[in-house]
Amino acid sequence: NSLSQDQLKTLVGQAALQYVVPGEIVGVGTGSTVNKFIDALATMKDSIRGAVSSSVASTERLRALGITVFDANEVESLSVYIDGADEIDGKGFMVKGGGAALTREKIVAALARRFVCIADESKLVDVLGQFPLPVEVIPMAAAQIQRRFEAMGGQATLRQKDGLPLVTDNGQHILDVRGLAIRDPLAFESSVNQWPGVITVGVFAHQKASLCLLGTAQGVRTLEF
Ligand code: A5P
Repeated sequence: NSLSQDQLKTLVGQAALQYVVPGEIVGVGTGSTVNKFIDALATMKDSIRGAVSSSVASTERLRALGITVFDANEVESLSVYIDGADEIDGKGFMVKGGGAALTREKIVAALARRFVCIADESKLVDVLGQFPLPVEVIPMAAAQIQRRFEAMGGQATLRQKDGLPLVTDNGQHILDVRGLAIRDPLAFESSVNQWPGVITVGVFAHQKASLCLLGTAQGVRTLEF
């Protein structure tokens, strides 16, 4: 009776409700796991003030369920930010951006005192980099940033959608970088952030998870970092 990946996402999406503080605004991430959380959050919408969202997609889903969405500039700090990840390691460092929302995710995460990561167990890794690393870039810098990753042994490709370069919520492009083993996520994030034209690198090391609710066949495992 093993649970499907979808059921694991539902499980952790519901488990995240216990970290939502009544009377407050909650930070909400993006992705299929977060969608389960948003659906669960609707059941307690009358006891929260609302949400700050990290994407157009999450904003639309929150509003459709009757949850007030605040602009990030209206909020000075959040108790908690809840989001998924494409990879998370044993220290709470993550790769994110598979859904192209990494920049806004990092911005909302930076407002929060705690980052609660919700993920199924397939996301837990020893070393980050198996999942192609998303990097949001200014279009005119894409080729030089690709060459810099090549010099490090990575292969960077421009993410496409319907035959054209994908355009993010911020009007920019995404590079997906394969072939990296990110052994020092803090140093890696700091260094790539300095490259001209990089908006956001999908390594979340300075904004790492405080805890992770991991969906496993045995139920929800809580990892604290
Ligand atoms: C969105 O840009 C990503 O950072 C998501 O958090 C990540 O892709 C996880 O999505 P799933 O929950 O759909 O796997």
